[in-house]
Amino acid sequence: MVKTGGMVASAEPLASQVGVDILRRGGNAVDAAVAVGFALAVTYPQAGNLGGGGFLMWRRCSGQTAAIDYREMAPSAAFRDVYAGKADEGGPTVGWRASGTPGTVAGLALAHKKYGSGKLSFAELIEPARALAAEGFTSPASLTRSLTSYIALLSRYEASKAIFVGIAEGQKFRQPELAATLARIQKHGPREFYEGETARCIASAMRPHGWINERDLRGYEVKERQVVTGRYRGHGIISMPPPSSGGAVLIEILNILAGFELGRRGWESPLRWHLMVEAMKRAFADRAEYFGDPDFVRVPVAKLTEPAYAAHWREGMDLRHATPSSAIRAGQASDEPLHTTHFSILDRDGNAVSNTYTLNGPYGSGVTIPGTGILMNNEMDDFAANPGQPNRYGLIQGENNAVRARKRPLSSMTPTFVTAPEGALKLIIGSPGGPTIINTVLQVILNVVDHQMPIAEAIAAPRVHHQWLPDEIGVEKHLPESVKIGLERLGHVFGKPRTLGDAQGILIAPDGTVSGASDPRGSGTTISG
Ligand code: DON
Repeated sequence: MVKTGGMVASAEPLASQVGVDILRRGGNAVDAAVAVGFALAVTYPQAGNLGGGGFLMWRRCSGQTAAIDYREMAPSAAFRDVYAGKADEGGPTVGWRASGTPGTVAGLALAHKKYGSGKLSFAELIEPARALAAEGFTSPASLTRSLTSYIALLSRYEASKAIFVGIAEGQKFRQPELAATLARIQKHGPREFYEGETARCIASAMRPHGWINERDLRGYEVKERQVVTGRYRGHGIISMPPPSSGGAVLIEILNILAGFELGRRGWESPLRWHLMVEAMKRAFADRAEYFGDPDFVRVPVAKLTEPAYAAHWREGMDLRHATPSSAIRAGQASDEPLHTTHFSILDRDGNAVSNTYTLNGPYGSGVTIPGTGILMNNEMDDFAANPGQPNRYGLIQGENNAVRARKRPLSSMTPTFVTAPEGALKLIIGSPGGPTIINTVLQVILNVVDHQMPIAEAIAAPRVHHQWLPDEIGVEKHLPESVKIGLERLGHVFGKPRTLGDAQGILIAPDGTVSGASDPRGSGTTISG
């Protein structure tokens, strides 16, 4: 039994509070997740959303698991070379044609219907978000700062400008159109977004741009997937399968590392960091080659996550030298601040949700659908929009992830559960950060499993990132100098320092004691029920 009245770790304090209130009213972890998902769309517009998509992992206290895929789908007007030669407006990152058909409302609705407690209606779970949008909330410094950084993007689109530009710190931030949209969904149910007035607003705003139409909205499909599982030093890993690369790549890296007793080496041992980076490079080379939407391409997940497959990668690893990525296979990068958001929830019965959702970039495509308050995603950039050319994360991706109508773009989101050797739930974890998500989740797991760190320390500890190409280590400023020097001696090259992730985690000790932490890199809060 878990010793808690429940816990919510999210990237924004008001949303965490909304989740805890639902737990206190008798809702289970899924009920709370639905309410948090809607609340973040109001209080954390940089990534919380109705106009985006994501993945929700559910684990019942009995051990039953589910993975809900509410990733965006490419509209019917999309095809392989739709973005060839197109940058800026018209391309996959900014403006009307950057969005996939949103999945969030359908995803949260399915989660509620199948896994909610049944004690609270969908409308009741939307109500806190609607109230926050209608009555407004005091804009925290973090939101005002973020909005100011994206003023150029948001000012390009009239409806975005009217809502998001000029919100001062400490000012009441009201979103009446978003409140009205939420009220319509409360009144008519989730199909309203896909077939009702909201759908008509989206389709008519998109019509002049030849993009998402009524049929695309009506035809959006949320999918339940089979979770991907692995083992690491006796622990179970349960994570998101394709169309996210997250779970499988995470397990592949852990499988490679399982052959090396990392825990014995001490957290600061440069060799430990070397092995971790070498494992990341190899698994990300596979990511580039094999991954895409499993409804369109065959992704050899079973093979890639087999321990025996990891053994072949270990054979080629040199303990004294960095292997150049070119010897593994070919690429570049960017260093923009990115945005997505994760929340982890545990209820008093031990049921758990690990959910990551996103608009892709901060404020997505920059477009708000007039009259709805809905900011749209720029998830189309997660496709290999120009195959062979790097996307905004510097990822080079293959044909398996080329654009096709109704296809889902490949993701790195990694909402994950770790179970203890005897089977009890041990960790709920996830993060934003594009491809760095996988390595953020990896390092929190290693800190907990190999180094027995308390959750706050495991999350706060400095991280590194390698994604095969570009051949450099993404590094945080607070990585110990001794580790940096050690890695340089082995031939590793560092990119310029940056922040990696914004993890939200909950840890359950063997005696049932629960502790949680929100990443000090962000402005989230963990609240107990
Ligand atoms: O699905 C993905 O992998 C990306 N769209 C996630 C973007 C992201 O994490 C931005 N974060 N800070």
